[in-house]
This record gives sequence, structure tokens and C-alpha cells, in this order.
Amino acid sequence: MTENIAASAVVASGAEIAEHVLIAHYCVIEKKASLGDSAKLGVGCVLAGGSQIGPGCVLGNYVTVGEGARLEQGVTVGDHTVIAPGTVIGRNSFLGSNSTIGRLPKAAATSTVKNQPGMKPLRLGPDCIIGCSTVLYAGTVLGEGVFVGDRALIREKCLIGNKVVVGSGSVVENDTTIGQYTKIQTASYITAYMDIAERVFIAPMVTTTNDNYMGRTEKRFQRIKGATIGKGARIGGGSILLPGIEVAEESFIAAGALVTKDTERAKIHIGFPARPVREVPSDELLEE
Ligand SMILES: CC(C)(COP(=O)(O)OP(=O)(O)OC[C@H]1O[C@@H](n2cnc3c(N)ncnc32)[C@H](O)[C@@H]1OP(=O)(O)O)[C@@H](O)C(=O)NCCC(=O)NCCS
Repeated sequence: MTENIAASAVVASGAEIAEHVLIAHYCVIEKKASLGDSAKLGVGCVLAGGSQIGPGCVLGNYVTVGEGARLEQGVTVGDHTVIAPGTVIGRNSFLGSNSTIGRLPKAAATSTVKNQPGMKPLRLGPDCIIGCSTVLYAGTVLGEGVFVGDRALIREKCLIGNKVVVGSGSVVENDTTIGQYTKIQTASYITAYMDIAERVFIAPMVTTTNDNYMGRTEKRFQRIKGATIGKGARIGGGSILLPGIEVAEESFIAAGALVTKDTERAKIHIGFPARPVREVPSDELLEE
């Protein structure tokens, strides 16, 4: 036996422990949990029943891995992070400290979004980097190489494409789709039911909205819709998109603009309300 298990750790008899593992003091490993070759657990980690920690994973201190969750090979997890039951973390991903990964949504009594039973666990593709104090919800899928900054939040039933960046402190609400290589910068608010295509750029502190009735009347439930943003569009700092707006491909929204109408393809829109003023220079357009 070449594993190194601290005397105070509690390892259930049905747990599967591979070779060369390191299990620090006060860890609890429940039955049917498994730990791959050379995996390392810091002090006080809890691996619930049936959870799988792949070879070479490194968990900091006081990490909790829920029932049946799976960490593929080479995943690193910071101190005090909680991974919800059934969550899948792709190989070589990094999760910062104090994060909550794969939590179930819990609606307020007055919320328009009700509790939804049977939500699928969160899935992260390989090579994702998730910051510290981030919150990712169940029912969401992150592709390969996604970056989520510190204190960002991504709600349930979102589809986040490969290599997307969600900047620090940004919020992505439920049922939103984000295409590959899109970048959302610091502290932007992406409302529920948005469709954002690939290679979109969203500058810091952008606000998007989805309800023109601001919580009143029943008809709002039929009309609720965030903006649709076409491929390669760029949304300037501090701008506001009203509900259901279609931002055309390669549109440029100037900093501080209020977008009240659908925009024109590859045109620069400036002002409050925003108006198209000229073409986007050709050397700024995406190459086909
Ligand atoms: C559109 C933009 C590029 C400026 O365009 P520009 O044509 O070079 O602007 P100019 O400096 O020539 O200004 C032309 C006029 O428009 C005004 N103007 C410029 N930007 C404006 C804006 N965002 N909103 C309202 N008016 C604006 C100027 O005051 C000027 O008015 P004037 O002729 O009465 O003096 C710039 O406003 C912008 O939005 N940049 C994006 C910044 C950003 O959000 N980056 C994100 C990453 S940090």
C-alpha cells in the first residue's frame, strides 16, 4: 500500500482508494466514493457516497463533493468549495475557493421562476477556469475552456459555449444561451431568456432587460424576452438593451447607449436613445 491516509480520516469500507493518494486529517470518505491514482485531499474534505475523484485531482481544505458527483482527471479545487450532487467537472478544470458549484435553484415565494423538480446536474467541459466565490447552478452546461471570473454567477438552464468568458462579478440569469468565444466583461447583467451568438463582445456594466411590464399584469408572462445578440456584435460599456431587442450581427453599440429598437447590421449606434450613425470600419469586422 502506498497511499497516505491521516489517522483522523474516516474512510468507509466500501470506498475505493487507488495508489499514491494523500488524504489529510479529518476527511470523511463515504461508501462507494472513489479516489483515483495520486489524488490529494486537504484537511476536512467530505466525499459523499458514490462521488468520483479522478486521478491526479487536488482538493484544498474543507471541500465538499456531493453524492455521485464526478471530477475527471486533473481537476483542482480551492478551499471551502462545495460541489453539488451529480455535478460533472471536466478534466483539468480549476475551481477557485469558496465557490458553490451546481447548486439547485430555490425560488423566492414571490418569484416568477418557480421551483423546478428534476433539474439535471451542472456539467462543465474540460479545461474550464472558475474563479473564487462564484456560484454556478444546476441545469446548466459549460463547454470546453470556459472562464468564469471571481464572484460571477450563472443561473440554471444556461448553455455556455466553448471558450466563453464571463467576467468578474457578472450575472447570467436563467435560460440564456451564449455562443462560443463570446466575452462578457466585468459586472455586466445578462438577463433571463437571452440568446447571445458567438464572438459577441459585451463591455463592463452593460444592463439587459426582459420585462417591459416590470412585474405587473399577466400578459408580461407571454412577452418576457431578453435581447437577441447576433454574431460578432459589440456592446459598449454601461449601455442598456431593452426587452426583446434584436442586435444585428456586427452591430456596434456605443458606450452609454440606450437601445430601444432593433439595430442595423455592421452599423455604429450611438446615443440615448441609440441611432445608427455610420458603418463599422471594415477592418473591425470578423473575418469570414
Ligand atoms: C462610438 C465611440 C467609439 C466614439 O466614436 P467617435 O465617432 O470616435 O466619437 P468622437 O469622439 O469622434 O465624437 C463624435 C461626437 O459624438 C459624441 N460621442 C462620442 N461617443 C459618444 C457616446 N458613446 N455617446 C454619445 N455621444 C458620443 C462626441 O461627444 C462628439 O460630439 P460633438 O461632435 O458634439 O463634439 C465611443 O463612444 C464608444 O462607444 N466606444 C466604446 C468604448 C467601450 O465601451 N469599450 C468597451 C471596452 S472597455
